[in-house]
Amino acid sequence: MLDVECSRRPSRLEFHDLSPELGDFRRELVTGLSAARKSIPCRFLYDARGSALFDRICKLPEYYPTRTELGILRQIAPEVAERVGPGAQMIELGGVNSLKARILLDALDEPAAYIPIDISRDHLRASAEAIYAEKAGLSVLAVCADYTQPFELPEAPGGGRRLGFFPGSTIGNLQPDEAIGFLATWVKKLGPGAAMIVGVDLRKDPAILEPAYDDAQGVTADFSRNLLVRANRELGSDFDIDAFAHRSRYDVPSGRIVINLESLKAQTVTIPSDDGSIEIRFAQGERIHTEDSYKYSLEGFKTLASAAGFRPTAHWTDENQLFSVHYLETAEG
Ligand code: TRP
Repeated sequence: MLDVECSRRPSRLEFHDLSPELGDFRRELVTGLSAARKSIPCRFLYDARGSALFDRICKLPEYYPTRTELGILRQIAPEVAERVGPGAQMIELGGVNSLKARILLDALDEPAAYIPIDISRDHLRASAEAIYAEKAGLSVLAVCADYTQPFELPEAPGGGRRLGFFPGSTIGNLQPDEAIGFLATWVKKLGPGAAMIVGVDLRKDPAILEPAYDDAQGVTADFSRNLLVRANRELGSDFDIDAFAHRSRYDVPSGRIVINLESLKAQTVTIPSDDGSIEIRFAQGERIHTEDSYKYSLEGFKTLASAAGFRPTAHWTDENQLFSVHYLETAEG
């Protein structure tokens, strides 16, 4: 009798479109700009032009987070693989730029499934297909959803550990109390015996931090002002793009980069709508808050993760202590 061993596990490619709602840009813009302290939600930064500008930011000499995190991941991948064990299901929050995920997937012991979750439908589809074609035996179950909103994870093959992956210090774009609530939902979603890897930018000298959010070539400024470019194109508003300047500064006590658009003159902007246009007045020097990017100390982030119900069991940094990668675990199963 022949003893046939089948080492090639059957794998599958799925695309779950949960039709995420970005929300109504016009309504959010009008609400945000009608408040006493003006703001625009940062999730509107990433249309096609914004995403392309952000890709350029990631390659700027001043923007250290991307290349530093990649370096750390390359270095720790074997140790992570050992901790995670065989047959893992890796769930990536924001899974379009799969470069970082690939480093882990290449190192893991026969990972069973890769579950990238992203709001950007076309990018997600393309990157899911590419990774599926590349990795024999790996099931790729892409989920088009807003991972900050409630949704169901798809049924995935593999008896190994569930491993959440949240790179890029995107956790820093949430307010700390929101970040705790967010991580707490992932403790529940991942379930017992799971782990999560989170990339977290570290507190440091403002002389390093500030140029990362205001580069010499002005790519970050263009990215920031893209909110207004997008409003003009999609909503027919008449923002004078050159009359708004990108402003970012590091607030030492709160450990965050605060990003604003500053009106360089007194001006009125018109946002057309079905029931009459809305006029928004700006004083000279008045600001629109667009984003915060919180930085943490190693201890500060571990405290935050613990408050969410994770056990922080390992962390790694680069040699210059610019960036950190944390390994968090849920309770034993
Ligand atoms: N998650 C990125 C960060 O906090 C987002 C970002 C980088 C960003 N540069 C920016 C957002 C400039 C607005 C403006 O590092």
